[in-house]
This record gives sequence, C-alpha cells and structure tokens, in this order.
Amino acid sequence: MMQVARTAAELQSALISKKRILVPTMGSLHAGHTELIAQARKLAGSDGQVVLSIFVNPLQFGKTEDFEKYPRDLEMDLSVADAAGVDLVWAPTWEEIVGPDVETIQAPVFGDELEGKSRPGHFSGVLTVVASLFVHVKPAVAVFGVKDLQQLLLITEMSAQRFKSIEIYPVETVRDSSGLALSSRNAYLSNENMSLASGIYQALLQAKNAEDPVAKFYEVAASQEIHREMIDYAQVLVMPAGSKVLGQTRLVVAVHIGTTRLIDNIALS
Ligand code: PAJ
Repeated sequence: MMQVARTAAELQSALISKKRILVPTMGSLHAGHTELIAQARKLAGSDGQVVLSIFVNPLQFGKTEDFEKYPRDLEMDLSVADAAGVDLVWAPTWEEIVGPDVETIQAPVFGDELEGKSRPGHFSGVLTVVASLFVHVKPAVAVFGVKDLQQLLLITEMSAQRFKSIEIYPVETVRDSSGLALSSRNAYLSNENMSLASGIYQALLQAKNAEDPVAKFYEVAASQEIHREMIDYAQVLVMPAGSKVLGQTRLVVAVHIGTTRLIDNIALS
C-alpha cells in the first residue's frame, strides 16, 4: 500500500531506514514523471523505498508567471503514483517544507544564464526547495529529468557541495509520438499550438548532426513556422567533467509557443 504524508512529522514516521530514492515533482504527473518513478523503482529494488514529493513551489515562479494557474490534481496524482510503484508520497504544505525559516540557497552565476535570464530568481527558488527536500528525506539517490538540463546541472553542483552522500541520477526526456517533450505546461497548448510545438524536436533532431547546430536549429524551426522572435535562446552547452548526462555537448533551447514557454535539448553527435 502506498503511503501519503502531509506533515514533516508524518514523513519522518513513514521513512524507513532502507535505501531511499527520491523523485521531486510539482505534481500534474505525466509519462515523463512516471519514467523517473520507474527508474527510481529499479534503483530501489524490492527492499528500498521510492519517495515521490509533490509540491508546487512558489519560490521558483516569477511574479508574472503561472503559479496560480499551474495544474494541480492531487487525487489523480496519487492514483498515478500508486500505479507507477511509489511507496511514499510527501505532499507538504508551504509551512512544512519552506516556511519563513528555510535556508535560502543562492544559485551560482550559471543560474542567471539561459532560463535564469528570463526567469530571475528561478533557480535559487528551485535549489532552496530541493535542498529542503534533501534535508527532510535524506535520500541515497535523487532522480531528475534531463529535459530540465540547467536545473539538473545546478542541482548536481549543489549536491556535490552540500549533500555529498546523495547521488543525482539523470533520466532522458520522455516525448509524445510527435516528439514533443512531455511537460505539465503542455496542458496550456491548443491543438494547433501542440503541432507547432512538435516542430521544436524536429529542429533539434536535424541540428544534432549539423556543423553549426544553432544555425541549423533556427533554419529548420523557421521552416516549421517557429520564427526567430519566438526563440528565446538556442545554445550549445558543454557538460561539466564527470557529468553523467548522456552526450558531451548538448543543444539547449527555449521557445515561446503562444503564451507558453517550452524548453528542450538534445545530445549533439
Ligand atoms: P516538474 O516540472 O514537476 O518536474 C519533475 C521532474 O520531472 C524533473 O526532474 C523534470 O526534469 C522531470 N521531467 C519533466 N518532464 C519530463 C520529461 N518529459 N521526461 C523526463 N523527465 C521529465 O522540475 C520540477 O518539477 C521542479 O523544478 C522541482 C525539481 C520539483 C523543484 O520544485
């Protein structure tokens, strides 16, 4: 039986001493999240504990962003989590996980680039809540998606500095049949914008083998009706030494489709 904890005290009494694998999420679970859970289940084995956290973290949303309208459906999430093999869900309130006394983590300068440029303070908000999750859950391993590459790199760096015993385990991006990376924010897209958005992956695929991946991305995107002014950034990122993220260099992009901002990335060959 899957357990559900709301308070920190409930969490502590539901944690077992065996190997804990943590999957942090903001809920609205989709097949990307369930892939993370499946990988966590494998890492945990039959005697480890898969802990899923669900918390829509206000600290990582800008004032003009979608915190209020971000999709929330706890009942649905609990049934998805149960079916995917989660042992324990922690769905804390703000007071329990962040509250006024939390230690604020300042993201390094890399947190001001790429996503951070259009989302000031975003990564400090992410790192603050993830650090609090780590302190409460004390996992052996924490699983994160490569879709949010900059987040993954910043969390890996924070862990190496502050949580040396926690292994950060990356999982490749899960896509729908059109290639569109699954995201809770895809729920904001109209059908027309969904098909427009699938052009992002088509452009990434063609950029993968190109001599100038950035130029190729812009070119193919334009042929898919994704015009230059819709592209926030397209940049090649070299993974830090020792990184477990597949592929040594990756092309990372952010694109505005209607009022929704989508991110994606691909390993370059
Ligand atoms: P959320 O957007 O809910 O994502 C939770 C985890 O699922 C993240 O590690 C994210 O990279 C991963 N994920 C999302 N879409 C994916 C996909 N299509 N394929 C594979 N993995 C995918 O990311 C956050 O929440 C928050 O910032 C959080 C880390 C929970 C801190 O609040």
